[in-house]
Amino acid sequence: MPPSERRLHGSRGMAAGGKVSAGVRLRDVTGTELTRWTSGMQELDFVLGGGVVPGSMVLIGGEPGIGKSTLLLQLAAKLEAGGHPTLYVSGEESPYQVRMRADRLGNSADAVMVAAETNLESIIATAAAAPPAALIVDSIQTVFSADLEGAPGNVGQVRECAARLMRFAKETGTAVFVVGHVTKGGGIAGPKTLEHIVDTVLYFEGEGSVDHRILRATKNRFGSVDEIGVFRMTSHGLDPVENPSELFVGERGPRVSGSALTALLEGSRPLLVEVQALAAKSGYGTSQRVSTGFDGRRLALLLAVLEKRAGLPFAQLDVFLNVVGGIRISEPSADLAVAAALASTVHDRPLPPDSAFIGEVGLGGEVRPVSQTDRRIAEAANMGLSRIYVAKRGAGRPPAGTDVRGVASVADLFTQIFS
Ligand code: TYD
Ligand code: MG
Repeated sequence: MPPSERRLHGSRGMAAGGKVSAGVRLRDVTGTELTRWTSGMQELDFVLGGGVVPGSMVLIGGEPGIGKSTLLLQLAAKLEAGGHPTLYVSGEESPYQVRMRADRLGNSADAVMVAAETNLESIIATAAAAPPAALIVDSIQTVFSADLEGAPGNVGQVRECAARLMRFAKETGTAVFVVGHVTKGGGIAGPKTLEHIVDTVLYFEGEGSVDHRILRATKNRFGSVDEIGVFRMTSHGLDPVENPSELFVGERGPRVSGSALTALLEGSRPLLVEVQALAAKSGYGTSQRVSTGFDGRRLALLLAVLEKRAGLPFAQLDVFLNVVGGIRISEPSADLAVAAALASTVHDRPLPPDSAFIGEVGLGGEVRPVSQTDRRIAEAANMGLSRIYVAKRGAGRPPAGTDVRGVASVADLFTQIFS
């Protein structure tokens, strides 16, 4: 009889033949507090949820050249220096290439053990022979198990190797870090299950043209997700950026039209960013809408709302929108800033000095409050902004010295700032 039938027809006692697991009242459950090691890099500790968790497995994804190997080599150096021996297994580069990278970091990774190996069984045997506190595998797509058919990088191989490394982490208490390549679509290559297997998934984002990098947790069994850490790639490796808001607000020189500031929430941290808009008369044919760092469809929607509810004419205009610093906005809280930037460029009049705009814009042109407005206002005030436009509804009590103005709709906002 197949097991499913047995479950249906058999008596409870002989259910699946498994042993009865004793349940325990939650109040009687005890455990030891999670230990964490500091990675020696505050931003990384923060994204990990407070440091490296022994016995956990972390997947780091990101485009080629973004700095994954650099980050992990720096991590290895710091862990080693902190008394946690680290084994760096490189399947992509020779030990000499790793050594050259270490030289750029100022030899701080000198003591790290490095092995060029792609056979999973050998990697585990090497780690078992001289157990490291942390094991780094760069990358999971180069590793293969001799037990399986198929070339390294194929779905079965990636899944099996990840599962075996995960088991190794749990059984030995080793902190395991693996690099995962990213596909064109931006996801980590290989089976989706790869992300399900590991404890934590970090993405390393950035643009080739700018030197800062954003590390973002998209899954974390030991911390919250959507936290970000910001680094700058220098000639001697990655440096933490302590005040990211400074980085994402362009130089505040002479005021120009089309520039508006807003405060996002990235995980638990507020972050000030600058939105720039430029509207220019279209040439022949259909007008263009080009958006960088902001959803193109959301821009189209806002343009329609501004046209219909505030009478701004965009039909004959090319519209370009850019979020400064290569950050991607995914929150509707930036709508009001986008609307302000668009109106400012159309009128060719700069927005009030030291101002920020926080709010969601609805199809009726109404401005809606967003989550944690106070914390966003506080960050804007921190960065020296004194006048903050927010939704009239839910404006709350402003911090001392800040001029917080409630607006009911986009039309209301434009009346307040341009007349
Ligand atoms: P790397 O860590 O090799 O990227 P990944 O492993 O994600 O492919 O980083 C590659 C880039 O970073 C490369 O273009 C060189 C640059 N880099 C620096 O600018 N400074 C440095 O100190 C190091 C080590 C690399
Ligand atoms: Mg690499």
